[in-house]
Amino acid sequence: MKKAKIAVFVSGGGTNLQALIDAQGNVIQSGEIAVVISSKPGVFALERAAKADIPTVVVERKACKTQDEFEQGIIAVLDQYDIDFIVLAGFMSILSENFTKKYPNRIINVHPALIPSFCGKGFYGLRVHEAALEYGVKVTGATVHFVNEIPDGGKIILQRAVEIKDGDTPEVLQKRVMEEAEWKLLPKAAEIVASEIMKGK
Ligand code: GAR
Repeated sequence: MKKAKIAVFVSGGGTNLQALIDAQGNVIQSGEIAVVISSKPGVFALERAAKADIPTVVVERKACKTQDEFEQGIIAVLDQYDIDFIVLAGFMSILSENFTKKYPNRIINVHPALIPSFCGKGFYGLRVHEAALEYGVKVTGATVHFVNEIPDGGKIILQRAVEIKDGDTPEVLQKRVMEEAEWKLLPKAAEIVASEIMKGK
């Protein structure tokens, strides 16, 4: 069976990338990771990909003079690997409207909160959990959504709630949200999108 070719974009530790790698052949049946693109060199996500024999490319945001140069570098890799869709898995650069318009319903992202809470510009990584704890919400979670020109603003695909417990630190909460929600939802959402794409082929 032909599979949808997935590019996973990363910038850090890559635990969500690992969840996707581990889901290949079980939760993910209709797609396969063809390349991992990192916006930062030397991150652990690149090692995870290499260990799974997945090609990696670094397109360093800091080394590019403009957003356009950065995105043209990424597009060249996507074309080279004939990519069907993109999964943002802890990707810490915002993509321009030019870029997102080129791939409508072909980019998904995992966000570590229940959108529309604690999302948008400035809400990423640990900061999201700091904000949730500071606000005092009793429930948080994770959301997988399509990516459009509005940060964290595209259509929601999957969402799951996670309880906040007394004494949680941002780090403790981040780990619970990852374990109970992100690592489960992201592979499921990737399969939903991959199977839709393959139906149309
Ligand atoms: C994850 O919690 C992911 O949801 C979040 O960063 C972490 C990356 O961890 N992404 C965002 O905040 C994007 N707005 P990972 O590198 O171990 O997957």
